[in-house]
Amino acid sequence: MPITTCIFDAYGTLFDVAAAARTAAAEPGRETFADHWPAIAETWRRKQLEYTWLRAITGDHTDFWQVTQDGLDYALEAEGLDGDADLRERLLQLYWELEAYPEVPEVLRTLKDRGLNTAILSNGSRDMLKGAVDSAGIGDLLDDVLSVDSVGIFKPADLVYDLVIQRFGGAKADVLFVSSNGWDVGSAAGYGFTTAWVNRAGLPVDRLAARPLHILPDLTRIPELAK
Ligand code: LAC
Repeated sequence: MPITTCIFDAYGTLFDVAAAARTAAAEPGRETFADHWPAIAETWRRKQLEYTWLRAITGDHTDFWQVTQDGLDYALEAEGLDGDADLRERLLQLYWELEAYPEVPEVLRTLKDRGLNTAILSNGSRDMLKGAVDSAGIGDLLDDVLSVDSVGIFKPADLVYDLVIQRFGGAKADVLFVSSNGWDVGSAAGYGFTTAWVNRAGLPVDRLAARPLHILPDLTRIPELAK
């Protein structure tokens, strides 16, 4: 079956989540943070994701902005920087306006020129996603931005992946689902989507019930797969 719809995860896939900590670390007066930023960025992301899974399992949903702040607070305390309110505020501001990876606009434009549907499917709240899409200037290249806000549970719940078929129709296999998160792309493969894992860090494949069909180092070859 030909691919009719190309769906992208947002954080880590289109938007560089490490950019917030990397940018803050390069700012004047942030020398202490500069020594800690890689550990803080890694713990921030890991805790943010763990909190989404735990909240999905327990049914105690909150929005992604809350778990993003909770993950950051944990990471700052773990590195002894929880007293720096200015740093916390700056990191959250930078997270709101994350940069897109350099190849993103051209990849989306190529898909749109071919007549494919393009959209984001993300754990992000609608407001956060709007902030990131606007600051990356890619709103015109997306048909929609689908947020878990409309179902009140985080990925990888099937209810979230269902949003794609509800919005664009067609069969699950007609959807190319693209994510840099091994757990997301493995779950989406189990759900029935055609999948591409963007494995920028060269990590092993997650041991889940299904494996991603394609594995790529970045997004540039996505249009070749969406045929
Ligand atoms: C998202 C997170 C999981 O955008 O990266 O859904």
